[in-house]
Amino acid sequence: MYSNFYSKPVENKTINILAIESSCDDTSAAVLCNNKVLSNVVTTQKIHEEYGGVVPELASRAHQQNIVPVVHQALIKANIDKKQLSAIAFTRGPGLMGSLLVGTSFAKSLALGLDIPLIEVNHMQAHILAHFIKDEAQRIPSFPFLALTISGGHTQIVKVSDYFTMEVLGETLDDAVGEAFDKSGKILGLPYPAGPLIDAYARIGNPTSFPFPKPKVDGLDFSFSGFKTSVLYFVQRETKKNPKFVEEHLNDICASIQFTVIGILMDKLKKAVKQTGIKQIAIGGGVSANSGIRNALKEAERKYAWSTFIPKLEYCTDNAAMIGIVGYYKYKSQQFAGQEVAAKARYVL
Ligand code: KG4
Ligand code: ZN
Repeated sequence: MYSNFYSKPVENKTINILAIESSCDDTSAAVLCNNKVLSNVVTTQKIHEEYGGVVPELASRAHQQNIVPVVHQALIKANIDKKQLSAIAFTRGPGLMGSLLVGTSFAKSLALGLDIPLIEVNHMQAHILAHFIKDEAQRIPSFPFLALTISGGHTQIVKVSDYFTMEVLGETLDDAVGEAFDKSGKILGLPYPAGPLIDAYARIGNPTSFPFPKPKVDGLDFSFSGFKTSVLYFVQRETKKNPKFVEEHLNDICASIQFTVIGILMDKLKKAVKQTGIKQIAIGGGVSANSGIRNALKEAERKYAWSTFIPKLEYCTDNAAMIGIVGYYKYKSQQFAGQEVAAKARYVL
């Protein structure tokens, strides 16, 4: 049976990786041939919408139902037989424990059954290495670069010196940036996840209508819980004066929220560039879809001569292809996991 061992890097070999992601509320499986994605199947669990956020217990149950059909579909779409697989890669953490257990147990069993190596993957490392998925239309950052990972579960600035040498320079002390969007949206009566809706309303609103305070946080760390509270107090105060305030000013409120949140992210990025001297910025995570952050990065390219990198949206939101690309690099350097490997809800980079 395969276990942890490191030997000479594997060169000139076709490596077929089946990758599995189940850290939150997306069940996903992908097949990669070397650094190229052959299939990337994602099943988003709709059940959480009616609860206004992810319910961990329901997420694990849904993963259990989805995992076999999703893997089956990924293999069919890739036109790869199980016997052609070189290894199984899976998300070990960070994430919701019940969700991680489903993908971890499935990956371990399949690797054991097929007698092929098992590769454990850190989800945050995967968001970053998603930039290295082979895609003719995309430019690839060179080392070292700064990665800004922004989603419903994460907010981090990471210095990436190599595929496996990453240093977290700053991260959120409380809510993730996606949560700041989603919770602000909830206060405005928008359905979950509110991020894309706030983005849509913001496009036709005035970003300077309602100034919200930016939190004062040392270094490169973030904090969004105070911001959410200031949105709540603002909305409560204004609706007392005018019960139709939100309805009448939705576009301007959303534009102001987005303007503040993007301002917080950009301030920290500028600080990180100043601190490290690195001007290559790669972003990832679901919030990378936001038009405000995309425009701000384009402007920074012109204004500060940064090079910015945004992967295709399907590789920004949670997906197994990004787990597969880490699997590919780990396979090349023969970094395998033993069958005793366990899921880790908190898994630092
Ligand atoms: O990466 P992701 O799909 O899942 C994880 O949370 O890991 O990110 C989902 C988050 C949600 O909070 C959602 O509201 C946010 O990304 N999001 C956006 C936009 N699209 C997705 N936030 C702001 N603007 C968007 N266009
Ligand atoms: Zn994620």
